[in-house]
Amino acid sequence: MEVIPQEIQAFAEQHTTGEGGLLYRLHRETYLKADQPHMLSGHLQGRFLTMVSQMLRPRRILELGTYTGYSAICLAQGLGEDGHLHTIDVNEELEHISRRYIGEAGLADRITLHNGKAADIIPSLDEIFDLVFIDADKAGYSAYYDMVWQKLRPGGFILADNIFFHGEVVLPAEQQSNNAKAMVRFAEKAIADDRAETLLLTLRDGLMLIRKK
Ligand SMILES: C[S@@+](CC[C@H](N)C(=O)[O-])C[C@H]1O[C@@H](n2cnc3c(N)ncnc32)[C@H](O)[C@@H]1O
Repeated sequence: MEVIPQEIQAFAEQHTTGEGGLLYRLHRETYLKADQPHMLSGHLQGRFLTMVSQMLRPRRILELGTYTGYSAICLAQGLGEDGHLHTIDVNEELEHISRRYIGEAGLADRITLHNGKAADIIPSLDEIFDLVFIDADKAGYSAYYDMVWQKLRPGGFILADNIFFHGEVVLPAEQQSNNAKAMVRFAEKAIADDRAETLLLTLRDGLMLIRKK
């Protein structure tokens, strides 16, 4: 299902600051070399992540789902002074790409790449986060929400990607994939949580902003 009409998407991209040469090359290399390149955040969402990060100037960011490093670089572009981003991915096959671009972006000492399952690594991080980006396996979102909540400072934000799951979340339940069902459960959990405020943006594949009160 086309969630955002192509013409509107193109107009939005034409009126959004470019991603810059390095991210453009990473985007291209991901499409040439990686499986499922549509997973990469891309121009519009990438600029959104950078702008949110620039507004917050976070000291600590946690990302679940590094992939080729595109969103990690976007988020790290807004880090505050002494800021650091931890990013986790279970798949180490793409780490050579993310590590190379993070180095080229001059962010090697500001981003730590963790290889392993998010559920195993999150408890080992002795940090309080200002911003968490959840973009790993969809079945894990609800558990990750609970795990990161304790590590999120009051007033901090969780951003969760792919909530629309290609538009499947509005189909009858019997036509939804397991991932779409997981996204519906996650969205319902977040909106029912009175410790949180939520905003589900119709950006790309549905990006939910959650603020810890
Ligand atoms: C949608 S992609 C991330 C895209 C990236 N954030 C971006 O915007 O460019 C999802 C990533 O989550 C990773 N992943 C899947 N299951 C995971 C798990 N249990 N723990 C950590 N990472 C996982 C996959 O290997 C994949 O690279």
